[in-house]
Order: sequence, then C-alpha cells, then structure tokens
Amino acid sequence: MSQIKGKKIVLAVTGSIAAYKAAYLCSLLKKRGADIYPVMTPNATFFLGPATLSSLAGNKTIVRQYEQGEKIYHISLARSADAVVIAPASANTISKLARGICDNFLTTTALSADCPVLIAPAMNHRMYLEDSVRENIKILSGTGKYLFIGPQTGDLACGEKGLGKMSEPEAIADRLCFLLVRGKDLEGKKVLISAGGTREYIDPVRYISNLSSGKMGAALAEEAAFRGADRVVLVTASGEPNSGRVEKIKVQTSKEMKEKMLDFFDDADITIMAAAVSDIVPEQSFDYKLTKKDDILSKLKFKLNQNILNILASEKKPGQLLVGFAAEYGLDMENVQNKKKNNIDAVIANDISRKDSGMGSEYNEVTMLIGDGRAGKLEKAKKRIIARKIWDSLIENLIDKGKT
Ligand SMILES: Cc1cc2nc3c(=O)[nH]c(=O)nc-3n(C[C@H](O)[C@H](O)[C@H](O)COP(=O)(O)O)c2cc1C
Repeated sequence: MSQIKGKKIVLAVTGSIAAYKAAYLCSLLKKRGADIYPVMTPNATFFLGPATLSSLAGNKTIVRQYEQGEKIYHISLARSADAVVIAPASANTISKLARGICDNFLTTTALSADCPVLIAPAMNHRMYLEDSVRENIKILSGTGKYLFIGPQTGDLACGEKGLGKMSEPEAIADRLCFLLVRGKDLEGKKVLISAGGTREYIDPVRYISNLSSGKMGAALAEEAAFRGADRVVLVTASGEPNSGRVEKIKVQTSKEMKEKMLDFFDDADITIMAAAVSDIVPEQSFDYKLTKKDDILSKLKFKLNQNILNILASEKKPGQLLVGFAAEYGLDMENVQNKKKNNIDAVIANDISRKDSGMGSEYNEVTMLIGDGRAGKLEKAKKRIIARKIWDSLIENLIDKGKT
C-alpha cells in the first residue's frame, strides 16, 4: 500500500479494553511505510504501556499535555499530520470531541487537527446505543473532518454480544489508505466557489435578498481544501468557511460578486456557482434613504439581473470545469435541464420549497445533472456531507475523466 508510505499518522489510543489492538495497528501501519506518532489518554495507559507503542512506532508516545519540550506541541503535531486515527475510541473521548472538550493531549491534538480524523469506536453495545453517544457521533460525522469506521457486532470483552467491537486493525489501515488517497484527489487544482444570497441595494438602508445562508458553498470550499486543492477561493455574500485554507472574499451585491468571480475565474480549474444571486435588481440604486416625500413607490422599479453563471460560461476555456446550482421551488427537472447549457459541465438542483432542507438549512438534498445529462440524487444529509458527495461525483464523472 504505497499510498501510506512516508505519511505522518497520529495513532491515538483511549481507555478501552481494545487498546491492545492498537499495538498491532501500529506495526501494521509501520510495515506499510507510515511514520507513526503515538498519543494516549492517561486512562489508556491502564490498558497498554506507552513504551510498547513507542518501541513499535520508533517515536515517543505522548500522554501528558504539559511535559513537552517543544512549545505548543499539540498544535505542531496536529498541523503536520496527514491523518489522525483514534483506535480504539472510547465513548468518553468521542463525546468530548463532539463538545469541544480538550482536557488531555489526545483530545487537544484531535480538535486542532486540520486533516482527516478517523475514529474506530470500541465499547459495550449499550454504551454505543445510548442516545447521548449516538448524538455525539452524529455531531462529529456532520463536520466532515471526523470519519468513522465500525464498530462491528461481535463478542464483547464484558462477555455480552452486540454492536461495539472495534473494527479489525487491517480494515482500519485499509480505510486510512483510502482516506489518504482521497485527501489528495484535488491536489494541483485551483478551485473557485461562490456562496450566499446577494444584497441588491435600493438605497443605503434597504435591499432585496433571499434566505440563502451560504452554508452549501462554504461546505464545498471546506471539502475542496480538505481534499488537497492547491488554492480554494470562496467569494461569499454570507457563508463562513470553517477552514483556514479557504481564501474568503466578502461581497454584498451581485455586481461585486460578478467582478470578484471574473477576477479569479481565469486562474481556476474548477468553478462552482453555489451563490443564490438575485434574479432581479432595482433599476436605480439611490445614495440617500428614500422617504415618503420622495414618492417612494413610484421609484421602486426592478429589472432582470445579469446571470453570472452564463457570463462565466461564455468566458470558459478548454480544460476548465464549470458547475452551477439551481434553486428550484418544487423540482422541475425540465427547467433544471434547460439551465445545463453547453459550457456548463454540471448542474446541482435543490428544492427550496422544502422546510427541512435547502436554503438556510443545515441540511440539503440535491439532484445532479452531470456531463451528458445523467441525473443522480443525493439523499438528505448535512450540507458538509452533501458537499463531500458532490465532490466525489464531480471527481469520478468529470475530473478523473480528464475534463480538467
Ligand atoms: C476494564 C475496563 C474496560 C473499559 N472498556 C471500555 C471500552 O471498551 N470503551 C469505552 O468507551 N470505555 C471503556 N471503559 C471506560 C473508560 O475507560 C472510561 O470511560 C474512561 O474515562 C475513558 O477515558 P479516555 O476516553 O480519556 O481514555 C472501560 C473501563 C474499564 C475499567
């Protein structure tokens, strides 16, 4: 498995009876050529000696938060790692991560990591099925940074049988390899994304806009950075990316958005117009606040706005990839199909009539039209997870096929 050769992996172990399997996982990863940096919670040391992992890894196992020679070691370790794997992961540590509690070296390192964190839960099946633990796993899964493997159903150390057994070290190592490949599948690409609802000013204090939060565009930008894109620029009217690797350009109006998108478009390999650009704009924007004395109603006239996606499509060069979003009130696929013009490689449609997903919501459910018009539906999920699946699909159908 060459994908893992020379990769810096933090192997994090928590206080579970399955901790002994971490020793095997450590030598397995080492054999595949990875550089292993072991980290343990203080409780994990009741189950496995740090010296065992240090010897197998060839690097000192870190347990105590405040005993490192290097200043702020958890940050430097987390920042330089290609992946963190927490195996086994106790219910306690999973819950701490979900709530942002970092009271030991392991949780502090995992929370400050900017790379994928693979979690292999191991616990009694009643603990695993406990509502609070399920909720915490759901929170972590929705962030995009944390990925889970297992647990499996099997004989548990407590003598019971159920869902809680840690996945086998071979399976964890294989998943890690897969993640490290995916972690690089946008390497060499420059990505440009727009997000949010534009504001079209009538006067200095009034504007028309829409309910777009910009979360979908921000999630797409985060995922692009997560997958190793060389540069990710987000031109945003609202969404805030949760990644230091995304360059954020704030805009308000569709005019500003168009200008900024055109500034970066030439250099971009892949452009996604996820912003909800207003279809209409005031015919005139006043530089003073209109009052009743100004005969305000007679001055409120609107015109159709320019279509930024179509403008970009007309500027597109061979090798560039352009993707548009269609916000549809009730999903009319014929309408969506019409939006997919020649120079637009994919259209992602979402139904904004739904209260439980789409505009403003944390969730989305989308239908994708790619290339020659094949439609694929991505079932309702957190926007960060939808973003991952959109990139999976674009990479599989367009990028891997050499369109860019
Ligand atoms: C013998 C024994 C086995 C345990 N096994 C597990 C386990 O497999 N999974 C788990 O979540 N907790 C297990 N626990 C409880 C954890 O060790 C406990 O919640 C601890 O606070 C975890 O700390 P940590 O997450 O900081 O490592 C076990 C406790 C004991 C005494």
